[in-house]
Amino acid sequence: MEWWNKRVFYQIYPRSFCDANNDGMGDIQGIISKLPYLKELGIGAIWLSPVTASSDYDNGYDVSDYCDINPKFGTMDDFKALLKEADKLDIKIVMDLVINHTSDQHRWFIESKNPESPYHNYYVWKEPRLVKGKKLPPNNWDSLFLGSAWKYCEENGLYYLHLFTENQPDLNYNNPAVIEEVKKILKFWLDMGVAGFRCDVINCIYKTSYDDAKKRRIKTGKEFYLSQKGCHDILKELNRDVLKPYNAFTVGETMDVSLEEAKDFIQDELTLVFPFEHHTGVDCWFQIPVLKRKYKPFRMIKILKKWQTKMPWTPLFFENHDQVRSVSRFGDEGKYYKESVKMLATVLLTQRGTPFIYQGEEIGLTNTDFKSMDEIDDIATKNIYDTLRRLKFGKKRAFKMTMNYARDHARTPIPWDDSENGGFCTVKPWLRLNEKYKEINVKKNLSESDSCFNYYKKLIALRNEEEALQLGDIEFADLGKDIFAYYRKKDDKTFFIVSNMSGKAQKIREEVRGLPILFNYRNFNPQQKILRPFESVITRI
Ligand code: GLC
Repeated sequence: MEWWNKRVFYQIYPRSFCDANNDGMGDIQGIISKLPYLKELGIGAIWLSPVTASSDYDNGYDVSDYCDINPKFGTMDDFKALLKEADKLDIKIVMDLVINHTSDQHRWFIESKNPESPYHNYYVWKEPRLVKGKKLPPNNWDSLFLGSAWKYCEENGLYYLHLFTENQPDLNYNNPAVIEEVKKILKFWLDMGVAGFRCDVINCIYKTSYDDAKKRRIKTGKEFYLSQKGCHDILKELNRDVLKPYNAFTVGETMDVSLEEAKDFIQDELTLVFPFEHHTGVDCWFQIPVLKRKYKPFRMIKILKKWQTKMPWTPLFFENHDQVRSVSRFGDEGKYYKESVKMLATVLLTQRGTPFIYQGEEIGLTNTDFKSMDEIDDIATKNIYDTLRRLKFGKKRAFKMTMNYARDHARTPIPWDDSENGGFCTVKPWLRLNEKYKEINVKKNLSESDSCFNYYKKLIALRNEEEALQLGDIEFADLGKDIFAYYRKKDDKTFFIVSNMSGKAQKIREEVRGLPILFNYRNFNPQQKILRPFESVITRI
């Protein structure tokens, strides 16, 4: 077994984590100062959202120099210090690798505007389509952040492809020179000591053709760029030439990936891939997050079971920087707030796979009560609002729908205590804090024995101690519709984990077996025939 089979990951979104120089934005020194906090939580690895140089249209996911650090976060020396300090605490660092596109401020892109430049072919430049003397985009593809996927460039009279914002031009993976550049980038960071990469939208990198595509509600064009054979070939090459020789860990963000496709991506390509079916498949219509439908726990359980049963190993996660907060989505912000945070933690940390906790999840951070679009920073969220307005939705309705998706819910600065701005900074923070920071903050969580943090800590400690919970087989039991129940077994040890994932009390088909060792209500009676709202328990058999 490898280190990533055993460790619990923690994702850091650097601008919101910890602000050491009090300029209103988190930084690398801030992260260093909180390593002991993460160690106390029991973390063994960090996925660091981009810290590379960026024009920050999409908060780091638009890289302007792959081998330099964003000065807002610090310097290369700070980054090296982070690696060193993390290593002392036996915490691995995994970087974000954003290679589907660069920033339009990247030197390659600026030079590529010149058709004579060797960099021209690093991007996807196409002649306009002329219809009745009018210049139109070369095909009908949508940007994943809405609007056309093509932007006209006045300087050279050509269009370039951007699957995300127009400031994020797609690299051209039909050009072998681009693949060679990526290899250099991988080596640069691996030589410095990073343990691997989280690979951003990695199943979009290869475009098979640039024909018009079937018109869809969203993602028109996807049959030509999602999970293409060419993408698999490139990942195999990167693995063979760089990742494998360095024994690097990789986890791919693979949009809309099916189980079968996911299996292919872990054959001599990536180590793991993030599934998203338990997000898009449980509470939205047509997989469109603004079109919210009622969350049904049994749907979640069905999907989790499917991935647990059919994938050899999978990352486990409820949150990341693109998703709304899990307690607000799958739990309860009201009466059963703590119980639901702890139940979700139990499900997250006891399945078979590699758990990823997103910053703030361990203290039960909720969604934020944003008052208007003026408080929103995220470009994709703004695009969605503007599109809804163009579609003639009223201001109030458009705002409400947009908030179902708003990525800023996950991006508000971490409240470290209950002082002004949650102790994050004393100047104006780059994004407002969650209004509940006086109630939900790290200091309070650390001081109260029944806090969300302390429950996470116990749970992770148990997982870190027990091989059955890390590596054991999983076997499901049927205790009721909204009840997620399973055994984890290794050698002579067996744990039984039962969670009522719904906000209603549920009768259980049989009593919970074994000796209760961790539960989220004050007590657990093994004879009880009912599980209370969001109740969960771990027993030892
Ligand atoms: C991924 C990132 C997201 C970013 C997008 C474009 O989905 O997680 O934050 O906006 O890729 O890079």
